[in-house]
Amino acid sequence: MKEIKSAFYVVTLIGFAFISIQCKNSNNKEAETTQQEPVSPVTISKEAFGMTPDSIAVEKYILKNKKGMEVSMITYGGIITSLKVPNKDHVSEDVVLGFDALAEYTKPEYTNSCPYFGALIGRYGNRIANGKFSIDGNEYTLATNNGKNHLHGGVKGFDKVVWNVVETKSDSTSASVVLSYLSKNMEEGYPGNLNTTVTYTLTNDNVLDVDYKATTDKKTIVNLTQHSYFNLSGDFSKTILDHEITIDADKFVPVDETLIPTGGLKDVTDTPFDFRVAKAIGKDIDTENGQLKSGLGYDHCWVLNHQNEGMEFAASAYDKESGRLLEVFTDELGIQLYTGNFLDGTLPSKQGGTYAYRTGFCLETEHYPDSPNQKDFPSVILNPGETYTSKTSFKFSVQ
Ligand code: BGC
Repeated sequence: MKEIKSAFYVVTLIGFAFISIQCKNSNNKEAETTQQEPVSPVTISKEAFGMTPDSIAVEKYILKNKKGMEVSMITYGGIITSLKVPNKDHVSEDVVLGFDALAEYTKPEYTNSCPYFGALIGRYGNRIANGKFSIDGNEYTLATNNGKNHLHGGVKGFDKVVWNVVETKSDSTSASVVLSYLSKNMEEGYPGNLNTTVTYTLTNDNVLDVDYKATTDKKTIVNLTQHSYFNLSGDFSKTILDHEITIDADKFVPVDETLIPTGGLKDVTDTPFDFRVAKAIGKDIDTENGQLKSGLGYDHCWVLNHQNEGMEFAASAYDKESGRLLEVFTDELGIQLYTGNFLDGTLPSKQGGTYAYRTGFCLETEHYPDSPNQKDFPSVILNPGETYTSKTSFKFSVQ
């Protein structure tokens, strides 16, 4: 009987041991499964994109995530040449206007019409009246490349220089390319050696971050932005008039017929500039309105309701047919909505044909136009020892 009992204990012990090993193994398996879940990093690849007319090699960087989003950018102008984003049926299509080849980005006949397709804009995004401004009593004269005014950094702004890639990094959540450019003292008439870095980051959540930083060795002005033209339909033969826009702004910056601020800010209430509730771009764009006449449509800076509060929602654009939604977050004070009013069917499209009137829109985060000459506008001065920073996130989803 004693032996039978001992045998029973031994069998039971072995049983427990077996069960516990099994459990352990299955726990391990669970742990292994979690660990071994395929990690899909956001990838970066690089290829040649041709030579500038003055023989500088230009490279293209391609950032790709696991959610079907792919961003291509080139070292010339920091230009985003393509931005593929899924639609509601998971089909990724290019949603930014641009050209196929470097020769088109540098072609004088095309750059003369100033599209600034996809480019980084500096040193000053938007216009400066008569190309003049003063700092501490010293007057500076810039190129007047837009009628009598200065636009987007001048004749050879940041959109037409070759940037250095100083770093690339990628992990399971995001991938970044860090571009840098040293703009020499008095380049395009601006004082100070300005050292600028712009980091493009694509995340696995379909967000494209643009992070700007700049330092100077002499008191100067800075206002950087990004000039992508979006057409969320993915079909560049369509206008953007059906896109529904919201802008979180109670006021905008009224301008004269040369698009220079007239001073002061205007309430959007009861005007075509009220985008506080989603509204199709085309709804009021052709109404009789002096401001719309000056801009040939929307070409204005809105004063964001959230200012100096860090990254906040600024604007959104929605294309019902594709289901694509773009939301823009920024720590900037303003956002320019430009509705492609100067596209006139002369520039060749990546999809064949040409870019017609209002087939792309820009949402350019920035300080207000002509700030250096407008005493009531927030300052755009950068002093030696300070760092200019600005950040914008373009978040894509479907609805
Ligand atoms: C400006 C427009 C200009 C466009 C292309 C926009 O940022 O506000 O007036 O035509 O850029 O240069």
